[in-house]
Amino acid sequence: MSDLVERLLAAMTLQEKLGQLNMIDAALPTHAPDEMTRQVCAGLIGSVLNVYGAGTTNPLQQLALEQSRLRIPLIFGFDVLHGHRTICPIPLAEACAFDPPLWERTARIAMDEAGRDGITLNFAPMLDVCRDPRWGRIAEGPGEDALVASRYAEAKVRGFQGADLAARENMAATAKHFVAYGAPAGGRDYGSADISERELAEVYLPPFEAAVKAGVAAIMPSFNDLAGIPMTAHGALLKDLVRGRWGFEGVLVSDYNAVGELIAHGVAEDLAEAAALALAAGIDIDMQDQAYLLGLPAALDRGLASVADIDRAVRRVLTLKQRLGLFDDPYRRVAAPPLSLDTLAQYAEVARDAGRRSIVLLKNERGALPLKPGAQRIALIGPLGDAPLEMFGCWFAAAGLEAASILDGLRAALPQADISHVPGVTVDGDDQGGIAEAAAAAHDADTVILSLGESKDMTGEAHSRGHIDLPGCQRALAEAVLALGKPTIAILTHGRPLALPWLFERADAVLATWQLGSQAGHAIAEVLTGAWNPSGRLAITWPLDGGQIPIFHSHRPTGRPGHNDVFYSNRYTDMPVEPQFPFGFGLSYTRFRLGSVTATPEFAPGETVTVLAEVTNEGALEGEETVFLFLRDPVASIARPVLELKGFAKVTLAVGERQTVRFILQGDDFALLDRNMRPRVEPGAFEILVGPCADRSRLSSVTVRCQSA
Ligand code: GLC
Repeated sequence: MSDLVERLLAAMTLQEKLGQLNMIDAALPTHAPDEMTRQVCAGLIGSVLNVYGAGTTNPLQQLALEQSRLRIPLIFGFDVLHGHRTICPIPLAEACAFDPPLWERTARIAMDEAGRDGITLNFAPMLDVCRDPRWGRIAEGPGEDALVASRYAEAKVRGFQGADLAARENMAATAKHFVAYGAPAGGRDYGSADISERELAEVYLPPFEAAVKAGVAAIMPSFNDLAGIPMTAHGALLKDLVRGRWGFEGVLVSDYNAVGELIAHGVAEDLAEAAALALAAGIDIDMQDQAYLLGLPAALDRGLASVADIDRAVRRVLTLKQRLGLFDDPYRRVAAPPLSLDTLAQYAEVARDAGRRSIVLLKNERGALPLKPGAQRIALIGPLGDAPLEMFGCWFAAAGLEAASILDGLRAALPQADISHVPGVTVDGDDQGGIAEAAAAAHDADTVILSLGESKDMTGEAHSRGHIDLPGCQRALAEAVLALGKPTIAILTHGRPLALPWLFERADAVLATWQLGSQAGHAIAEVLTGAWNPSGRLAITWPLDGGQIPIFHSHRPTGRPGHNDVFYSNRYTDMPVEPQFPFGFGLSYTRFRLGSVTATPEFAPGETVTVLAEVTNEGALEGEETVFLFLRDPVASIARPVLELKGFAKVTLAVGERQTVRFILQGDDFALLDRNMRPRVEPGAFEILVGPCADRSRLSSVTVRCQSA
């Protein structure tokens, strides 16, 4: 502990200690400014969220530094999930780039912009693995796979925090939402997650452990209960596992009102009990409901809480403030000079690069793409064709931001083309009155581009959908246009996979563009024109129908795998079991061929295994391929998933070029959790499968054998 922290702690009254644990939403109208001023001056607020900009943060900081008795600086928290003023693709989109250096780059520019707005605690990265596209927050996370989410966690913590938390361009990151928030009952946000200990350990915990190992400064427990224990009161996981076994020494910050919500969860009688449960579980900062400030004094009187626990929490908060350099210079970040136009242009290019690399080409037939250059009549039809704000997706920040719409991008990329835009319908309205005009415009065009999908508010917090198809009457619009039989390309703007088998059947080409942020239209135009050869691959299995959910690549086998061919088997009677597109799927404008795959044939437990895979570009364009390595343990003491992702690598190949991709598997890559939940490498055969996606028919496999210990 530092002398400064101990000196402050020793000097604090109980109310001042509780003040340091109190985080208030300064943007909320219920917080009367004079009440907020009074509390800050009295040292009853330790951190503030949801405000940014020197004009707002500086006056509050001055109050704390000049009016409060102990002059302890405030932390300013904000959700900077995918950019602050330069908005990058939503996390689920960026995950499709399978590019950790890119994930780190976009985090760096976000921090440089957010720091200038006075933010010192970022409520990101969101690391919730999810296999249920009904859940609106699937857009905020890195998809369905624990390994991808772990690599994403490491890259984002590095990017947000840098090497020195006190440096001006860095800030504290928060790994959220701990844990299994992405597995809510019914796909409905805030729902109970009732999953097995094994699934928790194999799927949902690893990204958070990776974030802790990467040095994340804060963790935010999730709103949900886990098998009946609300995460905000889950001492076994928060204290015994995260702090105890993982050695996390940072700050646990509750989610919004989550401490008080322990009453609604049915585990606390009143605010005092709720506050005591959260404190006992190791929660340091109570976000927004003042449960600690108002509930802990009564909890102390009733013997439900201890001053020692309060002191421990205060120490961790003061230590974080010290690590952030707030005691040395609390204005360091906000006092930085404005970003130069040249830097802003560089950041725009980072966002554009992230955008082009996040786009997944799902279908391309009849030579529909890339578009030919030169004079042509293009009809852009649909409600998202000229909708700049919808390109931002959920959680974007600063007001007044502009994004390049699809129409902007097309017109900039094809100046000779005659491009018309007809919305036809709204995103989710039921008025079909504009469909005739749209069909007429399509009729007169050489090429039709449908722009369909979701608004930015159809994913994110509290935006779960029961139907994961096109909202409103977009399908009626699309079918009217498709009926013309023109070359038709569909551009999807979305925060989740959308079940649209009819569209994949009838459109000539389909691009999954997610929500790509400030440079969306330009990134999309680059792929449409072939200026960028699409390289995105799905980080989430794409369902054929919402009825298949949960559907993902690393499912366990069944005793009756016949599926569509065997009556008494693990199947549906009314639809196939296969997804529309598997995890890792994505097309290119060139053609990659996977050649020989070799591996160290025998290894002893703990030894590494080297896997080499040859990839050749047999097409007519340079391109970037992502090669996936899966593992299958066909016979083990525990039934193992049919495919476990153990590695992914990207390789750029010129026309005709061949490269060998090398994977090094460590000993614990072959481990399973045995019946006592202990990691163990069991001797015997393992199947290594390498290829372009989680479709077994497209993977090359080689068997390796682990010798007995
Ligand atoms: C929200 C979200 C959380 C966010 C916090 C602060 O309710 O659950 O992800 O960081 O409140 O905005």
